[in-house]
Amino acid sequence: FVTPLSVAALSEEQVYTDLFSLKDETEMGHIRLSRECDLIVAAPASANIIARMANGLADDLASTTILASDKPVMICPAMNPQMWENAATQANIETLRARDIHIIGPAAGEMACGEIGHGRLLEPDVIHKAIADFFSTGKPLAGRKAIVTSGPTQEPIDPVRFVANRSSGKQGHAIARALAALGADVTLVTGPTALPDPGQGIKTVRIETAREMLESCEKSLPADIFVAAAAVADWAPLEYASSKMKKTSDTAMTLSLTQNPDILSTLSKPGPRRPHLVVGFAAETDDVIANARAKLARKGCDWLVANSVSAANPVFGADQNQVYFFSSGTMEEWPKAGKDEVAKNLAIRIADFFHCDTVKNAAE
Ligand code: C5P
Repeated sequence: FVTPLSVAALSEEQVYTDLFSLKDETEMGHIRLSRECDLIVAAPASANIIARMANGLADDLASTTILASDKPVMICPAMNPQMWENAATQANIETLRARDIHIIGPAAGEMACGEIGHGRLLEPDVIHKAIADFFSTGKPLAGRKAIVTSGPTQEPIDPVRFVANRSSGKQGHAIARALAALGADVTLVTGPTALPDPGQGIKTVRIETAREMLESCEKSLPADIFVAAAAVADWAPLEYASSKMKKTSDTAMTLSLTQNPDILSTLSKPGPRRPHLVVGFAAETDDVIANARAKLARKGCDWLVANSVSAANPVFGADQNQVYFFSSGTMEEWPKAGKDEVAKNLAIRIADFFHCDTVKNAAE
């Protein structure tokens, strides 16, 4: 519908279309095109160009420019809903996401072909806003507030003993840093760990018990993002002995426990103070996928990141993590990676969520 001439006339810029045009190559050349820009935007990005990008093809000017570029790339998908939902397109999108390509849209609605679903190109002003946001700070989560929980909790039995678990806090701290690196204003609520405060402007609140963690999280509301990465102790001693408990002649000892409040479920409850995006974690020893799905529904969070903590796959204290990512209808197996890398991928996913959301709101 739109000819190169109309784009050239309106933009007052030269339009390049042909990889093998002698004129274009002498005037600009695809390598300069790919380098002399701050951002490449593919809009509309058809299923075809997405597939070619995912596979590194370079068979026309657009795909060659993208492949030859060292600049950030943003794509605005537009296609028939079945094409968008096709497993091949979704796998290609995942590949591009893993390469830090920004995916903006698509919107839902009526297509040119008359079908209804996901696949509409976002409105031009919405794409323009996404580009402006990208450049406004280079920090897509600027202006967003995040609360991250991390580490174990310790539930005191007496002044010297406590109930706790083996969480090191490495994954939660890495998530706080990754969100801060993307510009979020982060409060990290952490149980006792051997880790230093992460810095980067992150407000770190050190607590010991689950109740204190809940209190600090609630005090830090309102927030746009809540990530519950802490391994909160499910039970606390029913009674606290204010003096050190003495060994008696009994060979057995019974400790009565009471259930702790569930911080994730509490903050996931619908209401005006519910963070816009709530992400839970699940460490499972068996049936990771089935248990994680059930947990996502039970806790009321939006996303869940699950990992297996079986003896064959130690996670507590390790630097690597292999996780499954669940949102309402999807499950993805992320490759085993450093906890920093997993955190970065999650933070990018969160930034994409807010961009799509901002863009969606602007479109409405
Ligand atoms: O139920 P489970 O402990 O396996 O759920 C794990 C998720 O719930 C994690 O995100 C953890 O931070 C959160 N959680 C919580 N408060 C609890 C128990 C778990 O926020 N008391």
